[in-house]
Amino acid sequence: MSGIQKVGVLGSGQMGGGIAQVAAQAGFEVYLADVNLAAAEKGKAKIAAQLKKSVEKGKMTEAESASVLERIRAVDGIPGLSQADLVVEAVSENPDLKFKIFRELDAACAPHAILASNTSSISITRIAAQTKRPEKVAGMHFMNPVPVMKLVEGIRGLQTSDETFSAVRAASEKMGKTFVAVKDIPGFAVNRVLMPMINEAVQALYEGIATAEDLDSAMKLGTNQPMGPLTLADFIGLDTCLAIMEVLHEGLGDSKYRPSPLLKQYVAAGWLGRKSGRGFYRYDAQ
Ligand code: CAA
Repeated sequence: MSGIQKVGVLGSGQMGGGIAQVAAQAGFEVYLADVNLAAAEKGKAKIAAQLKKSVEKGKMTEAESASVLERIRAVDGIPGLSQADLVVEAVSENPDLKFKIFRELDAACAPHAILASNTSSISITRIAAQTKRPEKVAGMHFMNPVPVMKLVEGIRGLQTSDETFSAVRAASEKMGKTFVAVKDIPGFAVNRVLMPMINEAVQALYEGIATAEDLDSAMKLGTNQPMGPLTLADFIGLDTCLAIMEVLHEGLGDSKYRPSPLLKQYVAAGWLGRKSGRGFYRYDAQ
C-alpha cells in the first residue's frame, strides 16, 4: 500500500524518538507509543528538547518546530497505534519481546497496516512469522543518531511482498533517508561489517596492541571515520555490540565472529558505554 500518511512508532527511546521526529518532519502524522502514556509523553518531551536545539542553531523556525510537534501524538500503548498505516517498532533488542509485540500489533492494527521493525539483528522472517500478515512485515533499520544519519537499511523477510517493500522504501525516502535493500541474513549489511571491526578493536585493546585512545586515533585519522571504533562502541552500547556479535556468531556459525572476551567482561561489569557512564572511556553522569 503506497498511501502511507499515518506512522506509528512503538518505543520512545533514543531510536524511536528519532524515528518519530524524522517522520513528523517529513509531514507524516505520528503516533508515538511506549509501555504507557506517561512514557510516550516523556519521549515526546525529549523530541521537543531536540527541536528546540535546532531552532537555537537557526536550522528550523519556531513555527516549523511547533508544527512538527503538533504532528506527534503521544498515545497509550499498542492500542493507540490502531489508526496507523505503517508502524515502526523500536523497542529493546530482545527476540521474545519483539515476537510478543508483533503478535499484539497484528491484533491491534488496521488490516492494511505495514508492520516494520527497527531491529539491528533479529530475523525479519521470524518476526513476520508471528503475525497473520507476514507479507506486510519488513525491516526498517535506522542508524543512531536518527536525525543525522542518512541510511535506512531495508530488510526483506522471506515473506515480505514487493508492495510492502516498495512502500517502506517510499516512506524512508520521504523521511529524507537513502534506502539500501538488504537480505534477511544475521547482521544484515551494516552490522555484518561494522561489528566485527568494533570487536577486532576490542580484541586489539585486549592484546595490548595500543591504548584505547591510540586505537581510536589510528582509525579516525587513518581511515577518516568520525569516531574511532571504541568510542563508537561506547556510543552504541557495549551490551548491544555484544548481542549483535552473538547473533553473528550463532547465526553464521563461523568462529571469526566470536565476541572478544574483553567485550564480554565489560558487559558483565555493567560498563556499557555512554549510557552507564563508563565503557572504554568515562562519561559524566547523565
Ligand atoms: N540527535 C540529533 N542531532 C544530533 C545528535 C542527536 N543525537 N547528535 C549530534 N547531532 C548533530 C549535531 O546537532 C550537529 O549538527 P550541526 O552540525 O547541524 O550543528 C551534528 O550532528 C554534529 O554533531 P557534533 O558537532 O555534536 O559532533 P560530531 O561532529 O562529533 O558528530 C556524530 C556526532 C554525528 C554522532 C558523529 O560523530 C558520527 O557520525 N559518528 C558515527 C555515528 C555512527 O556510526 N552511527 C551508526 C552507529 S551503528 C547503528 O546505529 C546501527 C546499529 O544497529 C548498532
